[in-house]
Amino acid sequence: MNTQIPLGNSGKQVLPIGLGAMPLSLDTRPDEATAIEVIRVFVNGGGNFIDTANVYCIDDNDVGHNEKLIHKALVKLGKREDVIVATKGGLTRPKGRWDTNASPAWLRKSCEKSLNDLNTECIFLYQLHAPDPDIPLTESIGELARLKEEGKIQHIGLSNVNTREIMTAMTVAPILSVQNRCNVLEKKSFKTGVVDLCEKENILFIPHSPVGGHFDHKKLSESKPLKSIADKHRVSVYRIVLAWLLHKGSHILPIPGASKVSSITDNLKAVNVRLDTGDMMALDQL
Ligand SMILES: NC(=O)c1ccc[n+]([C@@H]2O[C@H](COP(=O)([O-])OP(=O)(O)OC[C@H]3O[C@@H](n4cnc5c(N)ncnc54)[C@H](OP(=O)(O)O)[C@@H]3O)[C@@H](O)[C@H]2O)c1
Repeated sequence: MNTQIPLGNSGKQVLPIGLGAMPLSLDTRPDEATAIEVIRVFVNGGGNFIDTANVYCIDDNDVGHNEKLIHKALVKLGKREDVIVATKGGLTRPKGRWDTNASPAWLRKSCEKSLNDLNTECIFLYQLHAPDPDIPLTESIGELARLKEEGKIQHIGLSNVNTREIMTAMTVAPILSVQNRCNVLEKKSFKTGVVDLCEKENILFIPHSPVGGHFDHKKLSESKPLKSIADKHRVSVYRIVLAWLLHKGSHILPIPGASKVSSITDNLKAVNVRLDTGDMMALDQL
């Protein structure tokens, strides 16, 4: 299982555990030396896909914090060219809130700032952070398609979408990836057909909050069935829930967040966990 998986139809391959870099830049962020160490441990452990967004920061005055940090860390490690950094646009952080703005003008402005903060001429994967209820999805994707034509981004991804929105977006431009909240306790993307649609259309599915989310990951250790599977395999509950996602399809790339070295060290080992049919059935029912 610890072989690389295809990154949609891009021709690239990645280790099937990515790094969700958000916790490195929120108001609970670690100091910069620790953040760089988390990225170093991930990359040296074979990780080569990092998920970020312009809005992984404290508020509107801090936009780009996460992208600048990742760029700085990868340059320091001499790994800038070896690691895929996927970013997003379409939200804002006024006073620390998470608001949506996926207007063509805002997406263009955000993308140009991300190009600057990541110090690159072309972003490999640019994801629409969320559809904007005030803007037709075709207009948002239309602007991303223009950025692609101009060579500013290579591939378009979606986030926080349903099957209808995926189909609509695909009428405007090819879609490389879909990133939705999905974990063993929140299976909506399985139940609504998003994960199956991605497989059918050769789209990478990226579960965000794959170990339960920024706050709710602590609920994992409260689950008795999960704890007993983890004890049987002599690994953490985190490794088990990541392994469950990996066993659900080779088009699935979980991006667990980590602000501690111990978390990312543990998560990278999820690729070595082999779950049996009984484990999978029990986890499916959680
Ligand atoms: N597209 C979207 O709208 C969206 C929304 C949310 C998140 N995301 C992306 O998805 C990524 C992951 O989501 P998330 O960070 O919110 O939630 P998550 O990955 O489900 O949980 C992250 C938290 O779990 C803890 N954790 C992870 N592995 C652990 C382990 N092995 N042992 C102990 N604790 C562990 C980490 O603690 P420590 O911090 O103490 O290491 C971390 O803060 C984000 O970083 C971001 O890139 C996208």
